[in-house]
Amino acid sequence: MTEWTREKRYQRYEEVDQQTIDILTDQVEKSKYRQTFHIQPKTGLLNDPNGLIYFNGVYYVSHQWFPLGPVHGLKYWYTYTSKDLIHFNAEGPSLKPDTRDDSHGVYSGSAFEYNGNLYYMYTANHRDDDWNRISTQHIAKVNHDGSVEKFPKAVISAPPEGYTQHFRDPKVFTKDGVFYAIIAAQNDLEQGRILQYYSTDIVNWELQGEIQTNLEAFGYMWECPDYFDLDGHDLMLFCPQGIEPSGEQFRNIYQSGYIMGQYDLNQLKMNHADFHELDYGFDFYAPQTFLDENGQRILIGWMGLPEINYPSDKDGWAHCLTIPRVLSVEEGNLKQRPIKALEQLRTNKETALGYANKFTRQLHPYDGKQYELIIDILENEATEIYFEVRTSKSQTTLITYNTRAKKVTLDRSESGKLPEHVDGATRSTYLDTPLSNLQIFIDTSSIEIFCNNGERVMTSRIFTDDDATGIKASTESGQVYLRFTKYDLKDDEG
Ligand code: FRU
Repeated sequence: MTEWTREKRYQRYEEVDQQTIDILTDQVEKSKYRQTFHIQPKTGLLNDPNGLIYFNGVYYVSHQWFPLGPVHGLKYWYTYTSKDLIHFNAEGPSLKPDTRDDSHGVYSGSAFEYNGNLYYMYTANHRDDDWNRISTQHIAKVNHDGSVEKFPKAVISAPPEGYTQHFRDPKVFTKDGVFYAIIAAQNDLEQGRILQYYSTDIVNWELQGEIQTNLEAFGYMWECPDYFDLDGHDLMLFCPQGIEPSGEQFRNIYQSGYIMGQYDLNQLKMNHADFHELDYGFDFYAPQTFLDENGQRILIGWMGLPEINYPSDKDGWAHCLTIPRVLSVEEGNLKQRPIKALEQLRTNKETALGYANKFTRQLHPYDGKQYELIIDILENEATEIYFEVRTSKSQTTLITYNTRAKKVTLDRSESGKLPEHVDGATRSTYLDTPLSNLQIFIDTSSIEIFCNNGERVMTSRIFTDDDATGIKASTESGQVYLRFTKYDLKDDEG
């Protein structure tokens, strides 16, 4: 195993010889955990989605990338383009750490359009000789041929007085012809905050101030903020770090969620209800949103978290992005549904209708590791329902529904290899309404569970053996009447 010294983590991709890259690429391609319909790094580590936008008929999706191994090191942006958000063309590294300001990484940022051109605003990460962090915010123009041209100097050269160098992840949006950037920050009391800047010419940015919320003491840093209005509500998304678990909430190392209410952009005042997590699985962080060609709000997240070792690390790669989700607010509740375009990947429809009880009922024969499974619960007299996917004699990924508590639990204790440094092997969520439907996306090493048509989502990596392909349903007591609809998912083009 490579020992990831600081020197190795900050080695530039361009300076590594081709043979080393070829060996790594070969190792990654042989990994049994490679996904088929998710964006994953061709080598090394992927983290946050960056620069998401629909521009001139094309979707741009980039991600944070450390090419040389499954660790956080010198970050690049790796970019894909797409016509439909399901087939992606790899354009390769776009923003590279090649200036003094970004000598220690081109960190997260967003995309926007100005005067008919595409731009990125991002954080440049520099470390001085004493390894002190220096964060500045930059802009780059994306040329028609896809090459990027960085502005000659930072557009925001330091955090304001009263804030530390944890100052990053600008998300740009426009309103009434004005550009706004909200930026993750930490105040001198080491509390997470969001700062707002504005500009009319994208070169000169003025600090407007700190966004006021009810969350005074809510973690030491809020990463990756996002803001948008949706169906008459204002949503602010961010990723607080340093929140203690509380019951079934906040069980992951870092959180990713939103506050919803009304935001006064000029007064910087957000009136909002409680902070809610966006996802109740094990592996979800740093999402970003954008508008699709029909004006729908789409969210893509990082299916991973910092500071955790994953079983694919030994194969030279880590993490992937989630499938894109459409957001809406219905009767005051946020809904997240898989984008409709994913239906284009469906093949080999299979259906089954019947009762399940405490004796296991199996949907078979079935073999495959990439599919979409829709389970409709047509009648439920069971105390607890057990759905199992990716089962074999020795492995299973268990989804339990407790009828009385309206509680869904994902248990990956027997899914196969487990990531290290994760608290527990189950995650749960309480539904607002009785469970009537599950829509489950299984890829080689992941599961994304949408409960009740977008009411809750649970996203997780699972590192299961190839022969674990079965699907089962049973109950603790009492019976359920179920309809299974299963499609293989096949991404022919990409
Ligand atoms: C979130 C994050 C961002 C930062 C990026 C660096 O995962 O820590 O705050 O910009 O990753 O890769």
